[in-house]
Amino acid sequence: MPYVRFLNAVAKARRPSPIRQLTELLQKSPPTMISMATGMPNAEQFPFHEASFTLKDGNKVHISPSEMKNCLQYQATPGLPELRSWLKTMQKTIHNPPTWDLSGRPEQMDLMITTGSQHGMATVCDMLVTHGDKVLTANPLYSGTIAIMKPLGAKFIDIKTDAHGIIPEHLSEVMSAWPDKEQPHHSDSVNIPKLLYCVPNGDNPTGAGLTYERKAKIYAIARRYNLLILEDDPYYFLQFNKPRGRSFLSMDVDGRVLRFDSFSKMLSAGIRVGFVTGPKALLEKVNYNLQASVLHTSAVSQMIVYKLLEHWGLEEFLRHTEEVSDFYQGRKDVLLAAANEHLQGLAEWHEPSGGMFFWLKLLGIKDSHDLIMNKAREKEVLFVPGSAFTAHKDEKSQYVRACYSLATDEQMFEGMRRLAELIKEHQGKL
Ligand SMILES: Cc1ncc(COP(=O)(O)O)c(C=O)c1O
Repeated sequence: MPYVRFLNAVAKARRPSPIRQLTELLQKSPPTMISMATGMPNAEQFPFHEASFTLKDGNKVHISPSEMKNCLQYQATPGLPELRSWLKTMQKTIHNPPTWDLSGRPEQMDLMITTGSQHGMATVCDMLVTHGDKVLTANPLYSGTIAIMKPLGAKFIDIKTDAHGIIPEHLSEVMSAWPDKEQPHHSDSVNIPKLLYCVPNGDNPTGAGLTYERKAKIYAIARRYNLLILEDDPYYFLQFNKPRGRSFLSMDVDGRVLRFDSFSKMLSAGIRVGFVTGPKALLEKVNYNLQASVLHTSAVSQMIVYKLLEHWGLEEFLRHTEEVSDFYQGRKDVLLAAANEHLQGLAEWHEPSGGMFFWLKLLGIKDSHDLIMNKAREKEVLFVPGSAFTAHKDEKSQYVRACYSLATDEQMFEGMRRLAELIKEHQGKL
């Protein structure tokens, strides 16, 4: 699939860094290679020697002196080879992208490690979005994505949503409304959207999850109008309905999906390890961007993640994801019970399909901003007002986002009681 149409001027101008390429070459070279090429520091001079992490089950994961020396050093930009290889096998096992053949044929797909999935998204948008580009998204939209795309000049085109996320029929309607001369088969069409962004599971902020049928319809529309799909899926493992739904990546026969995964909810948010999977030709540009910016994600973080995954193996990792998912499902059930007890007649909601968020529509309130930012604080309860999740200037929102990841059962019931009181006060019922 040709990608030139999707790249902005910055991405087209990026070139590989000769020094970074040498780092990759050195990684693959035999120990007999004499290198006076790269400007690497001498790792013998670093004070760290080895490390050992104790897991919650009492097992220890050890980083040996030679592994330590390796991860303290500059690494190739796409990530530690052993971790990339482990993750490629995982993606192949879980998503089995149709164009991904790990055995033999030249690969059309690739995987790169990023400093959390948001870093991957920011880097990709840096190379795809030109000022004035239209991006198809849900509204409300993850605030981190607004923060990335808006300053780049993206114009957000809202696609209608319901409890199951983006409605494909509306997407089709929006795309077919563009005049024929703007359609992608005209090579100079610049106005028609080229990008579709979505959080397919446990959406932040709505908790919605796209069904397989919807994904298949959306993918077909993306093919018809030559769209790239940015699949931002940090809550993939937090789907409450089992078996987990298929990803866009799993149906990507063309190479039009860039998938963003995260370890933030499964292993650690602070370790900052995520990964992006997608067409090799696009990831090459991501590579050039990272070569010019962070050089690579912390190799110490990567090594810690790798040693844990190596110790566990895929099966144990997946077992862990089930445990984490069960935990969040339990938290969701408590918040649901608390909302049912206190907010009947005062708010409306859909039960989250996954993730960590509950999206509440406050009845009789046009804009939740003042209520949440001021009055709720006085009552010592914190939520995020819905206006934080719209990209449109001055758009009001009658929604609030409640996160059920941290609060205790008692706090959730008390939080919902306080919110009910606030709504009643606002409606003049108290
Ligand atoms: C939809 C979405 N994308 C990306 C991220 C960022 O994830 P990471 O910690 O991997 O950068 C979040 C975190 O809250 C999120 O909700």
